[in-house]
Amino acid sequence: MSNLSAEKWSALWSNQTTTTLPSMFEENYDLNIADFWHEVLDGNHQSIIDLACGNGALAWLANDLFSQQERITKVTGIDTANIDPFKVLNKDRKKFPMLDFIGNTAIEKLPFNDDSIDLAISQYGLEYSNLQESIPEISRVLKSKAKVGFILHNNESFLLKGSTISLDRHLRVLREVKIHDLFFELDRLFGRSKDLEKIIAKPKIRKKMNAINAATLQIKDIMSDVKAGLEIERYSQSMFNAFSEESIRKRIDRKKAIHQAINHLQSYIDRIVDLKTAALSPAELGVLVNLIEKEGFTISENHPIAYKEHKNLGTAFVAHR
Ligand SMILES: C[S@@+](CC[C@H](N)C(=O)[O-])C[C@H]1O[C@@H](n2cnc3c(N)ncnc32)[C@H](O)[C@@H]1O
Repeated sequence: MSNLSAEKWSALWSNQTTTTLPSMFEENYDLNIADFWHEVLDGNHQSIIDLACGNGALAWLANDLFSQQERITKVTGIDTANIDPFKVLNKDRKKFPMLDFIGNTAIEKLPFNDDSIDLAISQYGLEYSNLQESIPEISRVLKSKAKVGFILHNNESFLLKGSTISLDRHLRVLREVKIHDLFFELDRLFGRSKDLEKIIAKPKIRKKMNAINAATLQIKDIMSDVKAGLEIERYSQSMFNAFSEESIRKRIDRKKAIHQAINHLQSYIDRIVDLKTAALSPAELGVLVNLIEKEGFTISENHPIAYKEHKNLGTAFVAHR
């Protein structure tokens, strides 16, 4: 279950990204993950829901497949965040008449009639909901003969293991290196002067800049074995940018830029903490199995799904009734 506010997710989905993992899935879920979805989507479905859709990765994938196959299937993505994938991803909604997105909507309270949906799908979404409430609610809107397909974060997956290491490193950077504090001091020493040569000549400023360079090396060292160094790079780089010659000339609000960099990194940290909360343990997967079976479904798939060199990128789960 998720503890991250809808506002925070909304902020994330206002960025032009299809998934939360753009470094792994540049365009959308692909390779065997896409194959899994193509199999789940196979069948005579009239209406499909993508639960906790974010910017609609799965909904787009489904809609692309149905367009290629010239199948007429309505796909609706829902999410608690205030999403608008058409606008954010620059897609003309008129060209996607069978695709719809509904924001500010929880899986626990779906805006669909009883017995109205053929297939419910979700990747890295269902586990963010309260399963005790969401499973009966999904069952309510699904037709008596229906299917569900999910890929769920589990706490043994590569993503969880990698994110846990990354989280520890980012927290260390924030706690130990505190490069932003050095930038705040540098900002104070710069004052309102615009004359870069004069500023740089000051020994106090040189000392502070040397300290910042040393802190940068320390950060690189801490992050050396973490692949997802992207967030820390953004955090440091945006502060360096705030002190560039151009920024000084333009008198940009350096304090604000430093605060933004801290907030950005904190949001990333919050998301990883949330991911760890949402990821299902074996016991929680057992609870999901019981809840689904209680709604009359028979489970046909419940296993880790691989991706490239990783053996476990989540749990693939399919059930029918
Ligand atoms: C990791 S993102 C996944 C988004 C998308 N399925 C994807 O694969 O890119 C998790 C999403 O769950 C949404 N979410 C969290 N709790 C929810 C709930 N109870 N009902 C609906 N959406 C929820 C969040 O707003 C967020 O967009």
